[in-house]
Amino acid sequence: VIFESSEVASKAVAAEIAALIRKKQEANEMCVLGLATGSSPKRLYAELVRLHKEEDLSFKNVITFNLDEYYPMEPDAIQSYVRFMKKLLFDQIDIDPENCHIPDGTLAKEDIADYCKAFEAKIDALGGIDFQILGIGGNGHIGFNESGSLPNSKTRLVTLDHITRVAASQDFQGLYNTPKTAITIGIKQIMRAKKVVLFAWGEGKSNIINKAVEGPITEQVPASYLQDHPNSVFVVDKGASSLL
Ligand code: GLP
Repeated sequence: VIFESSEVASKAVAAEIAALIRKKQEANEMCVLGLATGSSPKRLYAELVRLHKEEDLSFKNVITFNLDEYYPMEPDAIQSYVRFMKKLLFDQIDIDPENCHIPDGTLAKEDIADYCKAFEAKIDALGGIDFQILGIGGNGHIGFNESGSLPNSKTRLVTLDHITRVAASQDFQGLYNTPKTAITIGIKQIMRAKKVVLFAWGEGKSNIINKAVEGPITEQVPASYLQDHPNSVFVVDKGASSLL
């Protein structure tokens, strides 16, 4: 779906999420949201905060799982996704902090595999993700599922691509300080989500959006797997859609 601007698009998706949360409230059910970081979902989170403050939208029945976190990463570091989510969303709404899950960047290496299994089991126990938000990396990654990630990949520790580290290096004062690894939810869990919305804004994303939407389904472009998802939408602005 091509929108006039990222602002209009983010408001439309926020309204859809709000309607889902309210519907679940009426049914006395929890709403399981899969959340992303990066610049693309920032306006969405701002709009959800506005709906909470101005239109009484409660998040008491919401459980969230973030896609990824750098490893290693302290939760209070400036670049941490925990810090990002708290600042932009969690600290501004009435969600129970216990219901907010973000992969832990402080684990000992030998504990990561068990941790990832348990993280995934928590999502499974809730029946999977109801609504998954995604951004897209310049190489087509979703979460930190880099090129080469297979459709059955699980939540795991991954090595970041050079191109991903270069993009992130602005936040880390150079490549030398940029983490080489991250923990990410795998492709399998993303593909199980009942609805997936991928955001991309600006001409800089037009090439990879073209490949992901119109190119072959390939592990070289993990976002292309979404072509096979029964309920996924690429929500883009004019710039990101310019090569479609
Ligand atoms: C990082 C995140 C991804 C995100 C991507 C794109 O790599 N791990 O989840 O989609 O950046 O970021 P942006 O939205 O800033 O373009």
